[in-house]
Amino acid sequence: MKVGIVGTGYVGLVTGTCFAELGHDVTCLDVVMEKVNKINKGITPIYEPGLEELLKKNIREKRLFATSNYGDLKDAEIIFICVGTPPKPTGESDLSYVRRAAEQIKETNPDAIVVVKSTVPPGTTLSLNLKNPAMNPEFLKEGVAVEDFMKPDRLVVGALKKENAEKVLKLYEKLKVPQDRQIVTDPTTAELIKYASNAFLAAKISFINEMANICERIGADVKVVAKGMGLDSRIGERFLNAGAGWGGSCFGKDVKAIMHTAIEANYEPKILESVIEVNYNQALHVIALMERAFEERKIKGKRIAILGLAFKPDTDDVRDAAALRIIRELAKEYEITAHDPIAIENTKKELERDGIRIHYSRNWEECLKNKDACLLITEWKEYREIPLKRFKELLAHPILIDGRRIYSPEEAKKRGIHYKGVGYGKK
Ligand code: UGA
Repeated sequence: MKVGIVGTGYVGLVTGTCFAELGHDVTCLDVVMEKVNKINKGITPIYEPGLEELLKKNIREKRLFATSNYGDLKDAEIIFICVGTPPKPTGESDLSYVRRAAEQIKETNPDAIVVVKSTVPPGTTLSLNLKNPAMNPEFLKEGVAVEDFMKPDRLVVGALKKENAEKVLKLYEKLKVPQDRQIVTDPTTAELIKYASNAFLAAKISFINEMANICERIGADVKVVAKGMGLDSRIGERFLNAGAGWGGSCFGKDVKAIMHTAIEANYEPKILESVIEVNYNQALHVIALMERAFEERKIKGKRIAILGLAFKPDTDDVRDAAALRIIRELAKEYEITAHDPIAIENTKKELERDGIRIHYSRNWEECLKNKDACLLITEWKEYREIPLKRFKELLAHPILIDGRRIYSPEEAKKRGIHYKGVGYGKK
């Protein structure tokens, strides 16, 4: 089928490339010429494992082509809108890019099925006044987006006409998603499914972080609590890792956007408010653990090592990252040195914008050397592999704050490390 994709950000490029891989004839449109040129050369403007190989292959085999001209979408049967919906200061989503894309498509190809894939507040797709509107939310996790696309848990399509929904689902036919995992509904319900999913996942993490804080006070271990809860198949063990809190470009933005929608509809979303508040405090809690360790050792720590800046491993994305929240707070009083395998450049840009200057190390060893404490904030594989004795050897004071619970507290203590981990309350 001939498919158009408007917007070649992370969602648009993954979607376009994967549809090409499934055999469709894909045209990706972006208004930024630099991106268009890169894509046509087989270079991905974003970091996403496995994507560049697929892109190169499909460009070479001529199933994918990028353009900045809407005229090139005039033969497409189905056009996906995958442009950004950045948050406004009020938490509301800025829909101007979505609306502009819809207007341009109406002018060039008014009969196409126009599918909104961008995450938009419920009601948006219908408000675009398209002839054949549809909504098909994405559930792609950064770092594993290609795999999430190729092996989806479910497909959700909201449309006014059943035949349009069926055409959209047909695009995914080769993925062989079981019938009972395909949901056909109206566009507004499809839009809410996306927000409800992200808000629930964020709530699940805030919930376990709240349990972690209780564990620390009563002498229990949240990792075991999570395991015990997760074995109940109604709860499930995924997304129950307590830590320094969730970040990224989606959870915070989406929870705030759906709160805004609720308030506009005269409903006070109390759970969602707490999901945000607990998460914000969780980053600060990691700092409190460090300060408690300084008190216990009766030292005035000054030099802090931060391991991990990305909002999660395997990405260079630092948007809304717990590490940045922690650094912004710590930078007022402490001297910070940070390391991350790939997210240093993005961190520099973000922090310099706020006038915050810290030191960066080329490797974790240099980062730890002579510091008064280490805060582990992103659970990169290479940090999991650090032999515990190296913390003791390299740090000036062997204080290790495990913000993701990746080390064994017992082992750390055995090696003479002053260990504190989120949700570890055992003495
Ligand atoms: C999230 C959703 O998981 C995707 O399903 C969704 O499609 C995507 O948002 C989106 O809306 O586009 P993503 O933001 O890439 O994906 O990252 P996640 O893997 O969900 O992680 C989010 C944050 O939660 C990270 O900071 C991670 O460290 C944290 N997290 C995750 C925890 O603190 N504990 C956990 O148990 C799991």
